[in-house]
Amino acid sequence: MSALLAMTRHGPADGLPLVLLHAFPLDQTMWDGVLAELGDVPVCTLDAPGFGSSPPPRAVAESLGRALAPSLETYADAVAATLHDAGVSRAVVAGLSMGGYAVLALAERHRDLLAGVGLLDTRAEADDAAARANRLKVAELAAGPTGSGAVASMLTTVLGETTLQSRPDVVERLRAALAAAPPTGIQWGQVAMAERPNRLHVLPDLMVPALVLRGAEDKGSPQAAAEAMAERLGDVEVVVVPRAGHMSALEAPAEVAAALRRLYERCG
Ligand code: MLT
Repeated sequence: MSALLAMTRHGPADGLPLVLLHAFPLDQTMWDGVLAELGDVPVCTLDAPGFGSSPPPRAVAESLGRALAPSLETYADAVAATLHDAGVSRAVVAGLSMGGYAVLALAERHRDLLAGVGLLDTRAEADDAAARANRLKVAELAAGPTGSGAVASMLTTVLGETTLQSRPDVVERLRAALAAAPPTGIQWGQVAMAERPNRLHVLPDLMVPALVLRGAEDKGSPQAAAEAMAERLGDVEVVVVPRAGHMSALEAPAEVAAALRRLYERCG
């Protein structure tokens, strides 16, 4: 099977890879600041279906023989197939927010792949009805003339107060990324995330080292959600990154990289 998702390898060619899955509605370049700190670690970054250089979600689903409806399960299957195609049968996999939802789907469907997991600014619970309805509204807006504008308001909701007040470079970077977010990916991501089930139950018997990390100013993934995951994981480090919000990898890349490095070393 040919590689399904766009994937980039960084650092040494050999060794257990650290796989990084990006947040919605960004792409694998979200990890650039983190990668700058992990030059000695073999890392693979991937684009979700419809984002970055990955094929449209429909093509990804078709090539896997899966139903065409947007789904994080199909995304997880595509990550596993892409890694398998690249000769990777075991990896430490970390994801931020939507990337974390994909890690949880991998834990349910491709457990043997996982040598360790990183759950960053994410949650294992499903959405409530209001959040689900809002996602479907954003998906509908993105399908029409609003296009990428459907996610413009995320700028102030996903960045922490400290970043909004004092990090204009990060604010501008995210503003540009949101303006360039592909409408097809936005529609796919919102519907897939709206449909995701509660996956807290996959954590208790996940017998691998884990990291649960959140920005202290993350309004989207509260401390209670991080604790709900951490208390179900056996071998877990919990990290709260000061002065960062939901986009911790953009807002505090050095701290996030240091936590990922500790996770990676525990999986060695
Ligand atoms: C993300 O950062 O991936 C999104 O905030 C995820 C979500 O909307 O739940």
